[in-house]
Amino acid sequence: MSQSIAVIKGDGIGPEIMDATLRVLDALECGLNYEFIDAGLAALEKHGTLIPQESLDTIEKYGIALKGPLTTPIGKGFSSINVQLRRHFDLYANVRPAISFPGTRSRYNDIDMITVRENTEGAYLSDGQEMIDDGNTGISVIKVTRQGSERIVRYAFELAKNNGRKKVTAVHKANIIKTSSGLFLDVAREVAKEYPEIEFQEMIVDNACMQLVMNPHQFDVVVTTNLFGDILSDLCAGLVGGLGLAPGANIGEKAAIFEAVHGSAPDIAGQKIANPCALLLAAAQMLDHLGMNEKGDAIRHGIRAVLETRRDMVTPDMGGTGTTDTFAQALVEQVAA
Ligand code: NAI
Ligand code: MG
Repeated sequence: MSQSIAVIKGDGIGPEIMDATLRVLDALECGLNYEFIDAGLAALEKHGTLIPQESLDTIEKYGIALKGPLTTPIGKGFSSINVQLRRHFDLYANVRPAISFPGTRSRYNDIDMITVRENTEGAYLSDGQEMIDDGNTGISVIKVTRQGSERIVRYAFELAKNNGRKKVTAVHKANIIKTSSGLFLDVAREVAKEYPEIEFQEMIVDNACMQLVMNPHQFDVVVTTNLFGDILSDLCAGLVGGLGLAPGANIGEKAAIFEAVHGSAPDIAGQKIANPCALLLAAAQMLDHLGMNEKGDAIRHGIRAVLETRRDMVTPDMGGTGTTDTFAQALVEQVAA
């Protein structure tokens, strides 16, 4: 039986990198049917809204979406589509692998770790839940629940278990933010007991930042609350050469949305020089999620080989002389070989 997925081409460079990505998925014969749905600026022009109900319905129907970057219009009271999608589908786990690839500008060349960020609570509550904002004093609330912590920590341990990873590090600030971060740490310790085969480590967030820069190889899976996860996952992207190679998944019980971490890059849209790697790696994560791990690996290994051997086909941001299309072409040849 073939699997259908919702595809959002996205704004700016979105359509260019999505076309490249779908070419590679087709070459791998993943048996996927694509249903293209509108979101972002394209949807605003056609439907008067950034994310039409029928697009939400299609994501709900298939449970899987591959998403190009979307431009959130500035001003005009628009709220981020990404935040809307997270809330609508309760996409509680933000999963960001950080893997070194050859020929990139990075401090290390052998990093392989994953950050799992709680995506629905913590310091990022919906508008209006802040306690005080009178112009002189601003007080924001951090909300951590037992249920929210339990599901994210369990997600991290299951991810470790199912992918042969050996260690989970819970990052917190329980020594200072005792109520909320303390609860997260308590729950992490409880859940860790259910996984005696996986090493459990706890680390205070400021130390974790230093350790990540000094000795990143000690980390395998990192699980943390929303704000810390937002910051740490970008730090990890920096360890492996920046956002051009950073994919991310937003995962809930009913739906999962896979995307590049970077935005719609309006400054280079239409020039055919956008790097498709991050979206391709997001597609690889999607294939893993669908149980097609070998095909996911084929994309990762293929990217590695192209970066190593076909510099003429690689996009300029990674020091090559190629285009989005030549990169896709080289990768198609690589996965077919
Ligand atoms: P951006 O990530 O789009 O661009 C930052 C810089 O990185 C630019 O110089 C751009 O040319 C470059 N860049 C980004 N992706 C690239 C790629 N694949 N290949 C080569 N170069 C690349 O961030 P910016 O400019 O802050 O945001 C632009 C728009 O994207 C905004 O409307 C923002 O709201 C949206 N955005 C959407 C996201 C999403 O849908 N997941 C995430 C971040 C931003
Ligand atoms: Mg962020």
